[in-house]
Parts: sequence; C-alpha cells; structure tokens
Amino acid sequence: IAAALGPKPLIGKRVLVTSGPTHEPIDPVRYIANRSSGAQGTAIAAALRDLGADVVFVTGPASVAPPAGVQVVAVETAQQMLHAVEAELPVDAAIMAAAVADWRVENNFTQKIKKAPESIPILTFSENPDILKTLSSHVMRPPLVIGFAAETENVIKNATAKRARKGCDWIVANDVSAETGIMGGTENAVHLVTMDGVEDWPRLPKSEVGHRLAARIAEALT
Ligand code: CTP
Ligand code: CA
Repeated sequence: IAAALGPKPLIGKRVLVTSGPTHEPIDPVRYIANRSSGAQGTAIAAALRDLGADVVFVTGPASVAPPAGVQVVAVETAQQMLHAVEAELPVDAAIMAAAVADWRVENNFTQKIKKAPESIPILTFSENPDILKTLSSHVMRPPLVIGFAAETENVIKNATAKRARKGCDWIVANDVSAETGIMGGTENAVHLVTMDGVEDWPRLPKSEVGHRLAARIAEALT
C-alpha cells in the first residue's frame, strides 16, 4: 500500500523480467527443468510495477501466478525465452531471474517413449543459448542488464566471475547451499555484485528483495 501511494520514479520506463524455470521436452509428457518456483522473479516484477514501470514479464512454467498489471509472455523452453526476450527490445532495464535450463534434449521424441525393460532410453543433450550473455552484447543492449547467480558454494567468487563472463552490469548472487535452507523457501540471502564491489544484504523475504532491487534500479535509471 505504501508503494502504491508513494512516488513512482519508473513511470515511462520499460523493464523486462525473466522468471521461472524453462522446460526442455524429452517427449510430449516428460521434461527436464531447474528447481524454480518463479517467486523471486514475480516479486521483482511486482515491485517494479509498484514504482510505475511498464513491466514485460517473460515467464517459463512457474508455480506461482504472475503479478497483476504486467504484460505476461509465457514460454516453455530456453530457445522460446530467448526469442521472446529479443522480440520485446528495446527496454530500459532487463532483470534475468529465470532459472534457464543449460541443456536441452537433442534426441527428444515426438511420441511418448514407452517403458520397456530391455531398452532404457539414452538422452543426448545440446547447450541452450545463454539469454543473459546474448542480451549483454546485443545491438539493442538495455542500459542496465542484471543477472542472477544461484550458487551452492564460493558464492561471491563465482558470482563475480559470472558477472565478467556474462558481460552484465549487476549480478544478484543467491546462496542456495543446503545449510541456508533457502532453496524453495520464501526468503533469500543475496549479495549484489556490481562494478563497484559487493553488497551483502540481510536474509529477507523475497518480496523485500524485490522492493530493494527495484529501488536500486530506479536510482540507476533516473
Ligand atoms: N541464464 C540465461 N540463459 C542461460 C543460462 C542462464 O539467461 N542459458 C541467466 C540466468 O537467468 C541468470 C544467469 O544467467 O540470470 C546466471 O545463471 P546461472 O545458471 O547461475 O549461470 P550459468 O552461466 O548457466 O552457470 P552455471 O549454471 O554453470 O553456474
Ligand atoms: Ca546454469
């Protein structure tokens, strides 16, 4: 309610958020995917909307509903997500919160694979396009590109390297090691990695991570 009544620094800004997992088909009834509810991406999109942004929400098959008041583009696979993202350019900022499957099944089947004890299926994989990396070197690169890094160890080191490798501006590094018990929960413990260094944020509800990140984005864009 406070956000709805407060100032709206992102009015006139168009921002894109990717969210949720992607599903890569094995056959018409089976897929591989990452663990992702879409909750953090949804919270970020809602927070940006609350600050007045026009939000394009490109989402894989998430378990939480997309926020109201945003433009929803629903996709299944990483390749579809890449095409959907490129079709929405230009934008003022892009926040890539989706848990994109790194690989897709190369030998996926058009009919359901039937169970047969003498023939266990063998899957072969090919690498999916890297949406964040593609966007970071795109001719229509958004002025602010933000990636996520869910890490189970060496969180800061991996996230810092990831920021350089991807060519994005910021990385929101998320510690999902088993000890934190965070994976799949309602809170996140994140570190914001920028060109200026690393900020450690306290463990917060995903909604609050969304509001803080949206406020930082507003600062950067205005
Ligand atoms: N990402 C993407 N396209 C991919 C893979 C990842 O856009 N094919 C984005 C994610 O949305 C996230 C960031 O890249 O914002 C980091 O994803 P992550 O899986 O942590 O990085 P990877 O480079 O895939 O490295 P790894 O899985 O080996 O840690
Ligand atoms: Ca990955």
